Amino acid sequence: MTSTHAPQNPPLNLLVVGGAGYIGSHMVKHLLRRGCNVVTFDNLSTGYRDAVLGGEFVLGDLADRAALDALFARHAFDAVFHFASSIQVGESVKAPAKYYANNVVNTLNLLDVMVKHRVKRFVFSSTAAVYGEPAYTPIDEAHPKQPINPYGKTKWMVEQILDDYDRAYGLKSIALRYFNAAGADPEGELGERHDPETHLIPLVLQAASGRRPHISVFGRDYDTPDGTCIRDYIHVTDLADAHWLALQRLLAGAPSAAYNLGNGNGFSVQQVIDAAARVTGRPIPVIDAPRREGDPARLVADGTTARRDLGWQPTRIDLKTLIEDAWKWELKVRPGSLIELN
Ligand code: UFG
Repeated sequence: MTSTHAPQNPPLNLLVVGGAGYIGSHMVKHLLRRGCNVVTFDNLSTGYRDAVLGGEFVLGDLADRAALDALFARHAFDAVFHFASSIQVGESVKAPAKYYANNVVNTLNLLDVMVKHRVKRFVFSSTAAVYGEPAYTPIDEAHPKQPINPYGKTKWMVEQILDDYDRAYGLKSIALRYFNAAGADPEGELGERHDPETHLIPLVLQAASGRRPHISVFGRDYDTPDGTCIRDYIHVTDLADAHWLALQRLLAGAPSAAYNLGNGNGFSVQQVIDAAARVTGRPIPVIDAPRREGDPARLVADGTTARRDLGWQPTRIDLKTLIEDAWKWELKVRPGSLIELN
């Protein structure tokens, strides 16, 4: 890690909304390590109570303004991290109401309660989906924002709301636009537990462990060297470190901003499968399937601004490390089959 492990004195009081989810739970661990007082607020709709490794846990929903109000009355938070959103692109097309309610309306509840209680620092989980179909790659922050699905639109709406809330209420925020979050806690305590799982790396590893019969490759006719889609995979602990650095930047009084979080390295679906076969030493049955709707051929970040402004230096950038960490987690959960297969 690039950032200091020394606890801040006095310790920071931090709220992690969605701290029981995949990225949120890694963040909570990261903050506890740094000696922060952490409160996790999560409705456990997709998260897991046992993924919250410490601090106070509050079971609650962002739709419940009174619960938020009571929470902010009890704690003087120095900052808020917001990881609680619905994240499935396909579902967002079929059920946009859920996405506008959860990702926009509920986020507004949170922001309004923050404003009311004069909590002025906010780190927001945004996404590369705000850009839509890439006009060029690597994608920098200035790339046009033309999201092509409700999921991406909700995240872009919140970014625009944050801009207005900064101007009107002085709420300072950093929006972090993740490319493909992947990997797991290198110590094996946490990992990806989506249900249903839709992400490539955990699905490939479930095919390797035998939890799934095969992995489907969605399209081999893309305009890429091996015909499969290219993505920029970023390790979840590097993501957590970027959030920590974003918080430091807000504490130092920096202006609001949005940053891409990616390595700038693209790996194809086939490269991921090959790397997983090498790491696991297991055969990975592959089925060729049609293209999945809305998948751009290549999504790779220009992440230089985050490195420059935040001093962020991702350390677990090679595909092998990322897959090794995710495999550790897969081997841990496989015996109990924590996720029911559909
Ligand atoms: N893929 C397969 N087979 C599968 C699952 C995925 O071939 O069973 C392919 C996809 O087609 C894609 C690549 O693997 O080309 C990665 O797919 P993921 O579903 O793992 O990730 P996405 O790139 O679709 O989505 C990620 C985030 C979203 C975010 C999006 C930005 O998970 O939240 O990037 O566009 F919106």
